[in-house]
Amino acid sequence: MLVTSRSYAEYEAMFDLSDLPESVLDCCAGGAGFTAEAAARGVDAVAVDPAYELPAAELVDTVRRSLPATSGIVDEHAGNFVWHWYGSPERKDELRLDAADRFLTDVAVAPERYVPGSLPELPFPDRRFELVLSSHLLFTWADKYDQDWHLAALRELVRVARSEVRVFPLVKQGAGEPVEYLPELLEQLDGVQAEIRRVPYEFQAGANRMLVLTH
Ligand SMILES: C[S@@+](CC[C@H](N)C(=O)[O-])C[C@H]1O[C@@H](n2cnc3c(N)ncnc32)[C@H](O)[C@@H]1O
Repeated sequence: MLVTSRSYAEYEAMFDLSDLPESVLDCCAGGAGFTAEAAARGVDAVAVDPAYELPAAELVDTVRRSLPATSGIVDEHAGNFVWHWYGSPERKDELRLDAADRFLTDVAVAPERYVPGSLPELPFPDRRFELVLSSHLLFTWADKYDQDWHLAALRELVRVARSEVRVFPLVKQGAGEPVEYLPELLEQLDGVQAEIRRVPYEFQAGANRMLVLTH
């Protein structure tokens, strides 16, 4: 599995963020630079990921190795990606390298922000975070995780959120095929309002919508 490093700018666009609330969880944060940047802006920002169990040197190595590997996926499915948001492959690589550096520096100076943990059971109390973000785990890996896992994972994200959960993207990794059970999954979320909303980001062609859950 890849431990990728999306940047704050990518998160802003994927989740159509403007002002951040007082507390935010990035669930399955991997090597993303979002938490470091949000914390620098005064937000109570926390990242959770199973990769944070790794010893420091191994985590650095895993994050660094994931950088070229993600470009490999794009090359393999070149016809399924569009470049209008990034502008060029060089700009995308620059954002990801900066984000990885940002993450690796922050994890060394503020390790308390980076909590080891896995869906569908997160180590946080109910309603701990105002906003919960989840990028490129749910739906992306729908070939590995089934509908039951997704239902349990979404319920867990809702449990730790005080008001809102945002998930991006809503398609599978690579060619960006739709997740056939998504409509049924949303119906299974009793007591939760689910909305699919357009965002300004697109990289996998047609993947320009996020799931917003409120309760
Ligand atoms: C493709 S990366 C996405 C990282 C980051 N959100 C980004 O957008 O660059 C997926 C991350 O999910 C993590 N992951 C895998 N299984 C998980 C699980 N069951 N619960 C939470 N995170 C998981 C991996 O360790 C990896 O860092």
